[in-house]
Amino acid sequence: MNIDIITIFPEMFDGPFSESIIKRAVQKNLVNINIHNLRDYTTDKHHKVDDYPFGGGAGMVMMIEPIDRCISHLKSKREYDEVIFLSPDGQLLNQGISNAMSLKNNLIMLCGHYKGIDERIREHLVTMEISIGDYVLSGGELAAAVLTDSIVRLLPGVLGDETSALSDSFQDGLVSPPVYTRPRVYNDWEVPEVLLSGNDKLIREWRIQQATERTRKRRPGLFDQHQQDSLGEQ
Ligand code: ADE
Repeated sequence: MNIDIITIFPEMFDGPFSESIIKRAVQKNLVNINIHNLRDYTTDKHHKVDDYPFGGGAGMVMMIEPIDRCISHLKSKREYDEVIFLSPDGQLLNQGISNAMSLKNNLIMLCGHYKGIDERIREHLVTMEISIGDYVLSGGELAAAVLTDSIVRLLPGVLGDETSALSDSFQDGLVSPPVYTRPRVYNDWEVPEVLLSGNDKLIREWRIQQATERTRKRRPGLFDQHQQDSLGEQ
């Protein structure tokens, strides 16, 4: 998979992509992540990427030309499945979207800034808009890093069997059950007996029951959806 990220702050990705699972996925060639500095695509001698909004108002607007030039350059090398604009008014990211994106070959992620981007970019160049939550970030970079992480960890070969993404929270519409490790007792705080029983069937049932109960208590909306989906499957 190729993920091409267009940004005016390329260095913001140094941290998130140079550690842990993403780093290993890149080293193993399971994904290519290329960061493109939008300022390299301006024709303006000051590398200007923003301008005043037509009609007036506060804040600057990202200009169409550098973004179009950058996207055209990328598209001249390969076909892209989606051009994703990270935006607080996009579709709210969830596990289903990450799963679907992990099946694609080539993605462009466009990070916005300032007051927004020229609407014509959204109309003519962007194919999908994603928000990572109902709050406003300073720009799309952190959102693109979150989206990339949620996709890359799902790619075949990135996680080992024992940490398989299939057992993640949300993959089956439920949050994860609690987990414990040694010691068995700490300050009188004990590990649930069933986990020490060695009985796989009982442990599996306990985990499902805990995940279901946790989801009902902590995420009632998710729980209702899960109940509806289970009824639909019957
Ligand atoms: N850019 C600014 N805020 C954002 C958000 N919540 N999600 C995605 N992109 C954003």
